[in-house]
Amino acid sequence: MPALVLLGAQWGDEGKGKATDLLGGSVDYVVRYQGGNNAGHTVVVGDQKYALHLLPSGILSPGCTPVIGNGVVVDPSVLLSELSGLNERGVDTSKLLISGNAHIITPYNVTVDKVTERFLGKRKIGTTGRGIGPTYADKINRVGIRVQDLYDESILTQKVEAALDVKNQILTKLYNRRAIAADQVIEELLGYAEKLRPYVADTVLILNQALEQDKVVLFEGGQGTLLDIDHGTYPFVTSSNPTAGGACTGTGVGPTKISRVIGILKAYTTRVGAGPFPTELFDEDGEALRRIGGERGVTTGRDRRCGWFDAVIARYATRVNGLTDFFLTKLDVLTGWEQIPVCVAYEIDGKRVEELPYSQTDFHHAKPVYEMLPGWSEDISKAKSFSDLPKNAQNYVKALEEMSGAPISAIGVGPGRDETIEINSFL
Ligand code: IMP
Repeated sequence: MPALVLLGAQWGDEGKGKATDLLGGSVDYVVRYQGGNNAGHTVVVGDQKYALHLLPSGILSPGCTPVIGNGVVVDPSVLLSELSGLNERGVDTSKLLISGNAHIITPYNVTVDKVTERFLGKRKIGTTGRGIGPTYADKINRVGIRVQDLYDESILTQKVEAALDVKNQILTKLYNRRAIAADQVIEELLGYAEKLRPYVADTVLILNQALEQDKVVLFEGGQGTLLDIDHGTYPFVTSSNPTAGGACTGTGVGPTKISRVIGILKAYTTRVGAGPFPTELFDEDGEALRRIGGERGVTTGRDRRCGWFDAVIARYATRVNGLTDFFLTKLDVLTGWEQIPVCVAYEIDGKRVEELPYSQTDFHHAKPVYEMLPGWSEDISKAKSFSDLPKNAQNYVKALEEMSGAPISAIGVGPGRDETIEINSFL
């Protein structure tokens, strides 16, 4: 059985946790391939609600092995507290595997993230402040600390000292902050080594062997397509590749092994942090979407910006990820609107544009061109099949599918595990 990728088709927070969890029972490995504890998945199992930041949501499915791939950045203190929080609630986390090549978010990376944002003032990115960007910057600059470095004190010492030589200059001279003592950082990091040791493994080998043995491997993206460092709304993006290609580089599994790429698509649009968002609403409708959809960040507690569905973005996500399917989430949130606007194109400097403009300047000027679709007022949360949906809800889904360029294979009609309509099986 080949590998599947599940990723956000918009700006993140599309409800991936629910989708991965739905597949969890039939999946052998759930692998995160990028990002860190900037992500936030809420998974509802029975009457229990779990908020996960770093751990793959497969951690909640007993038969499944959760994996943190080499492309992820790991804050050990967050990881350990997430694990002990789950253990206290009776969840067995012993199967977790962490790549020895994953990079570590050090305390100084978190400091640099926060002070840089403060320094940028009005021009800030609105990061989650978790040290994600600075850790990836260190990785690319070849001064990063990897999980495997925790097991060689002399290498760890050299690397931390080298990194801090430069960072302390910046912190003290540019940002007017106190220098960070290398020995304290080293001591803290060494303190995590033994606690993490049982989980550290050659995940590249394990995943490729699993695929050879016909196991089902699910790659779970954090954030979303429009937050991708290469394909997103740069510079208002995260510092990794949530798009499908990231699943290969972030795990060491080749593209020929991937058979399905599933985009999670919310029935409307949200974004956190700064950056362009053509269908953003500043009126009562936006407020209503936020309230009904519970659009508040799992990680930061920030209110999400809300707007209508944007088909231009969905088409773009289909293209850059090679999507084979969509999982449409939160359709129930739209219940009660008489008419639902859907953005079908943009108007940029008086011209109609059907596709996402590659120019940042143009995208900043894009105004949504809306088509009005008739709404529905019936409760849809008990719908088990597509035909159980009211006619107008069916037509809304069909219209989105046609505009977005890939089949909608599942629909979320409520937050619970079983509140999903499966149209085509993902496996
Ligand atoms: P960073 O990932 O903390 O560097 O933040 C960069 C941008 O990505 C900011 O706009 C964040 O709000 C956004 N972001 C990061 N993680 C998520 C996520 O899981 N969902 C939605 N937005 C996110």
